[in-house]
Amino acid sequence: MYQPFVLALLRSPRQVGAVAPSGPLLARAMADAAEPAGRRILEIGPGTGVITEALLDRGAAKHELYLLERDITLATYLGRKFPDINVIVGDARTVSNLITPDKAGSFDVIVSSLPLLNMKEADKVSILKQLFALLGHNGVLIQYTYSAKAPIAPILATRFGIKGTRMTTIFRNLPPARVWKYCRDHEAEVQ
Ligand SMILES: C[S@@+](CC[C@H](N)C(=O)[O-])C[C@H]1O[C@@H](n2cnc3c(N)ncnc32)[C@H](O)[C@@H]1O
Repeated sequence: MYQPFVLALLRSPRQVGAVAPSGPLLARAMADAAEPAGRRILEIGPGTGVITEALLDRGAAKHELYLLERDITLATYLGRKFPDINVIVGDARTVSNLITPDKAGSFDVIVSSLPLLNMKEADKVSILKQLFALLGHNGVLIQYTYSAKAPIAPILATRFGIKGTRMTTIFRNLPPARVWKYCRDHEAEVQ
């Protein structure tokens, strides 16, 4: 499991944004926050599929699970590991060209391992805009971060009309990680 991750890390450290795959406790915490049973899920940046496995363990249906990974070697590895799951090779910056709501329907949950805090602001804004367009009205984005700061700055969240909740901190992950959940701020919509 480590070999494809290390090769991807050597190719593009900034895009991978971590020195090791997510640990099992972080993967479980992401799956708990996603509440995957009976939901249509898009996982972005699945890497070696550690979180994918946790989503399946928590009841995600394979035919309702889509994986989007930009690294071709990792995507090939995921395709072999999960032959019954839709693996899409591509960049989240063009996700709306890769997955259309018509084709996939709206997603209930997007589970992201994207290194948002390493990204250029313009890319981050573009990705978030596209992700929320793919989410249904009550859809949620689950994102982890190794930073003490929110993965989406509060000012940006307000601009998008979304609100974030820190769900949990996994101190026993290396490095410690925080899981955040973002949803549309329906209260702000009616004001
Ligand atoms: C922190 S690593 C993923 C860790 C993953 N949870 C695991 O346990 O293996 C981030 C992943 O996001 C992918 N990634 C980074 N930028 C991306 C982008 N713009 N579009 C799609 N995937 C991206 C990287 O290739 C990498 O697999």
